[in-house]
Amino acid sequence: MLDDKDRIFTNVYGFQPWGIDAAIKRGDWDGTKDLIAKGQDNIVEEIKASGLRGRGGAGFPTGLKWSFMPKESKDGRPSFLVINADESEPGSCKDREIMRHDPQKLIEGALIAGYAMRARAAYIYIRGEFIREAETLFAAVQQAYDKGFIGKNACGSGYDFDVFVHRGAGAYICGEETALLESLEGKKGQPRLKPPFPAGAGLYGCPTTVNNVESIAVVPTILRRGPSWFAGIGREGNQGTKLFQISGHVERPCVVEEAMSIPFRELIEKHAGGITGGWDNLLAVIPGGSSVPLVPAAEIMDAPMDFDGLKELGSGLGTAAVIVMDKSTDIVRAISRISYFYKHESCGQCTPCREGTGWMWRMMERLREGKADISDIDMLHEVTKQVEGHTICALGDAAAWPIQGLIRHFRPELERRIREYAGAGEVLEAAE
Ligand code: NAI
Ligand code: SF4
Repeated sequence: MLDDKDRIFTNVYGFQPWGIDAAIKRGDWDGTKDLIAKGQDNIVEEIKASGLRGRGGAGFPTGLKWSFMPKESKDGRPSFLVINADESEPGSCKDREIMRHDPQKLIEGALIAGYAMRARAAYIYIRGEFIREAETLFAAVQQAYDKGFIGKNACGSGYDFDVFVHRGAGAYICGEETALLESLEGKKGQPRLKPPFPAGAGLYGCPTTVNNVESIAVVPTILRRGPSWFAGIGREGNQGTKLFQISGHVERPCVVEEAMSIPFRELIEKHAGGITGGWDNLLAVIPGGSSVPLVPAAEIMDAPMDFDGLKELGSGLGTAAVIVMDKSTDIVRAISRISYFYKHESCGQCTPCREGTGWMWRMMERLREGKADISDIDMLHEVTKQVEGHTICALGDAAAWPIQGLIRHFRPELERRIREYAGAGEVLEAAE
């Protein structure tokens, strides 16, 4: 369990004011000029040494991503840092808490990260529905300008750096990094083919790095306390602290900062007050937001909550949005509802996703009611395989994986519904 002294987000519940003076008292903007004076390459090396992996879901090594940015400007083109605050993954609600209660950590992180990757400015792209959070963020950015922490000669470092906040308009797909860039440029938010990755051709065709809110907000603390402090929490390849978001059938749903790799049972016992109705009542868990496959109760109990531990179970840490489902859950209905979400949010650009998400959802609805043949389960599985890996962006995979998890772990339940429905039909026929 994480020691209190190791917590980065000391105001995650908003017990103290979010304003800049309170943030300074909590330690933000302390010696930022000295952190910048470490130099660009040293900062990148320290972030690499800390083991920080992207907190937006994919877990790509953050320092490595920064190192893809050019050291020299080509043709006078500027570089940009873009912060993905379009948090929309069902179950995810951690970046929201940072922006509500600790926005200066994000702004200070933006300055240091932007400096390290030689960016001219940072754009924070915030989810359209986050109205209050956007208001807080606009005000927090202005407070940082007023103090001289950002803008011309930021923190007296001699480096000029602007921060802009841009509000999205409510499309989940704009959280995909290249759709986000399209949207920022004023176009329809549809993902681009990768490669080129944003470091090669990003915002307005300029070198760009897109990072998640939490990834950037932890940067100042890592540099202040040293990369070995961060790397010493968790286990090899899965280091640092992490904001977990626990929802569903627990006694106390919450957002909590914990050590990476904490076992599932300990996480729930310590912070969420246990499972409703006790541990025997646990059915399954979606450990990383709606995009990752569910894990049945018996398998998740002692699992380390990190990238590698959950991958071994055929699932993933994703955004660490832990959705707990007890035995009162209609698991087929729950996954069908997720299928509907992806069908609704598909941008429609590529055929397997546009057609496949609708097809999978309709099939899931038939299975929910039992109005299917047993062979349809295999056919649905085959369709998920045709969608997975055959689309422009990860939304296709995200639509396929929850269904694959359901079939892998709850096939008997799907078959039971089909048999029951067929049985009911036979009873009716006999009665006629
Ligand atoms: P990805 O694995 O394609 O890329 C992750 C990051 O690494 C990107 O910034 C990408 O540009 C970079 N990258 C990967 N390979 C690279 C290479 N060879 N060279 C240079 N850069 C490279 O994953 P993606 O599509 O960005 O994100 C998918 C994840 O997003 C899912 O796992 C899901 O958990 C999460 N997600 C989070 C949401 C949220 O609300 N936070 C919403 C939806 C999905
Ligand atoms: Fe759009 Fe879906 Fe293709 Fe992604 S996978 S580009 S959301 S149609």
